[in-house]
Amino acid sequence: MKICSVVGARPNFVKLAPIARELAQRPQARHCIIHTGQHYDAALADVFFRDLQLPPPDYALGIGSGTHAEQTARTMLALEPILVEERPDWVVVAGDVNATLAATLTAVKRGLRVAHVEAGLRSFDRAMPEEINRCLVDAVADLLLTPSADADENLLREGVAPERIRRVGNVMVDSLLVALPRAAESAILERLKLSPGAYAVVTLHRPSSVDDPVTLRQLIGALARLAERLPIVFPVHPRTQARLSALDAPEIALLRCLPPLGYLDFLQLWRQARLVLTDSGGLQEETTALGVPCLTLRTTTERPVTVREGTNRVVGRDPAAILSAAEACLASPCPVEPRRPALWDGRSAVRIVDALLTDGAPAAAARED
Ligand code: UD1
Repeated sequence: MKICSVVGARPNFVKLAPIARELAQRPQARHCIIHTGQHYDAALADVFFRDLQLPPPDYALGIGSGTHAEQTARTMLALEPILVEERPDWVVVAGDVNATLAATLTAVKRGLRVAHVEAGLRSFDRAMPEEINRCLVDAVADLLLTPSADADENLLREGVAPERIRRVGNVMVDSLLVALPRAAESAILERLKLSPGAYAVVTLHRPSSVDDPVTLRQLIGALARLAERLPIVFPVHPRTQARLSALDAPEIALLRCLPPLGYLDFLQLWRQARLVLTDSGGLQEETTALGVPCLTLRTTTERPVTVREGTNRVVGRDPAAILSAAEACLASPCPVEPRRPALWDGRSAVRIVDALLTDGAPAAAARED
């Protein structure tokens, strides 16, 4: 059976790594990796392939940045001839980035079967580009591999047939557990002169957090206030860096801004933090998996299980609310004993690959143009 995985951006690489490792163990599977190049900087792409021990991609499309339409369209154009040539039994996509949508549309229109890893998540906020991507991918993918019961419920509510849904757990946790021993060897804390449990980590990159200067200035203001209590370490995504460079916010000097970090250094940094403040989806899950307190600086989450069963609190973007939630966090005991949601056990990739190999009917004949 031939399986093509299409990845494009940082969180995709983290989800692909355990699946690639598992597929390499199965003699009946041939795996081909296509990297669209949505993320192309070494700090966002190459270091992840290295840290996650991913083999180099079989195809690198070099799509790069652009508007959503440009990025999606260029990916579709570059991908189509490869999929026609490879004729995989499955196209595997993950998450909710533009590469995920582009690959799904290209594959289903060619009559190829698509499996969506991390299906069913919904923020119910259509202003998020990722929400559009998730809804569209789940509407047309053949096999919906979900991380949690709430995702199954979302899909069923949308009228998805139960036989298209397979709960496999959270594959990011597989990556996390495999990488922990190697992350422990990272010297990031020594390099930054930080003591475990005595600092906070911040990440911000969503358009809703960083694209509006008023919102961004408010968030930076709140973080600068928190920096009076403990050091705030802030690895800055390129989108955010561009916005910060154009912003008049001298308080940014009170935060310890860094370039983006690789997977292992960043894992070591956040797992030892007293508190994480973020707008990332993946980090909400990862902090839950290891019992690190997390404040989500958004008004919604597509990962409610991290709030119900984990260490996440959705606090919004209001500075007073952020500061009071952070104070409450700092006043409560730490570390927290992690309580991982069901199937967040490091074996999701085994279940994903089992589902692909058992559901893998031969690809439908490619449609005529
Ligand atoms: C993308 C995903 C988002 C995911 C995030 C993870 C979409 C719609 N968004 O957001 O869901 O959480 O990745 O990081 O797919 N840039 C660089 N170097 C790079 C890549 C991007 O400098 O290697 C800069 C460019 O200026 C680009 C901007 O970052 O315009 C945004 O990149 P893009 O891939 O469009 O979206 P992200 O914000 O990274």
